[in-house]
Amino acid sequence: MRPTHSPLRTDEQERNRPEPTYGGYLAVDGLLRLQRPRSVPEHPDELHFIVTHQAMELWFKVVIHELGRVRAELGRAEWTRAVARLGRINAILAAQTAQLGTLGHLDPQAFLEFRGFLGTASGFQSVQFRVIEVLSGLRDSGYLNVLRAAHGGSLPAEIVEALATPGLAEIAGGAADWRAVYSRPDAQGALFLLGEALLDYDRLWAGWRHEHLVLVERIIGYDTRGTGGASARYLQGRLSSRFFPFLWEVRHRLATEHGA
Ligand code: HEM
Repeated sequence: MRPTHSPLRTDEQERNRPEPTYGGYLAVDGLLRLQRPRSVPEHPDELHFIVTHQAMELWFKVVIHELGRVRAELGRAEWTRAVARLGRINAILAAQTAQLGTLGHLDPQAFLEFRGFLGTASGFQSVQFRVIEVLSGLRDSGYLNVLRAAHGGSLPAEIVEALATPGLAEIAGGAADWRAVYSRPDAQGALFLLGEALLDYDRLWAGWRHEHLVLVERIIGYDTRGTGGASARYLQGRLSSRFFPFLWEVRHRLATEHGA
């Protein structure tokens, strides 16, 4: 079958279009020029540090993209598609949490040798990380105030845009009577599986936060200030963040009803 092509191109133009190469299609040359260690003389471990962060930001981009699609599917009551997509997102999160662990093999002394070159740059400023949190459901005023403070008094445009759409928690929370779904899983099987996929999403983010906390403790210790001015103590306080408290509470309700 002839591949489809842009209606704006004539057949002649399409025939003369050069075949893409691996490097050209993926812009590999440009991509490999994006790692610019700042340490002078260049510290050999800074490359690993930069690549881990850059790779994470690329995967955050995919997660944001997929969150848009899963929210639309939930809005159309396409439960099966949404469950399948959440399965893919969850696989990405698991892989990214494992990727964080690779940085644990950076020895603390090596990190300290180039840390000064980071200035005040910190993961605390990652806009995509915050967009994911907002799209997923963290939106209370206290949380937004912290974000405002972290971004110099006003929210970045990407976060404002994310706030203008309903979060995953809001959409999922209104999609079902979760107490009823969980008390008889087979009665609304697709919704039960959706609840479990959402719970896994929450669990995997809790796992990401925990892995990051342990990484920070391993590299700079518990009470050392990070380049963003916070410490592992702050990260510890964030461990209890949950996007879908209603899905966790339903366990407690069921347990209470069973006299536990
Ligand atoms: C040597 C490795 C790392 C160390 C020592 C480290 C340290 C820290 C510290 C101390 C904080 C608290 C804020 C601050 O003062 O900077 C923080 C926050 C953060 N870091 Fe890292 N980090 C490391 C690797 C990473 C990686 C690979 C990522 C991936 C993008 C990342 C993403 C984040 C994010 C998103 C936050 C904000 C978390 C929140 O507010 O809940 N970090 N990091």
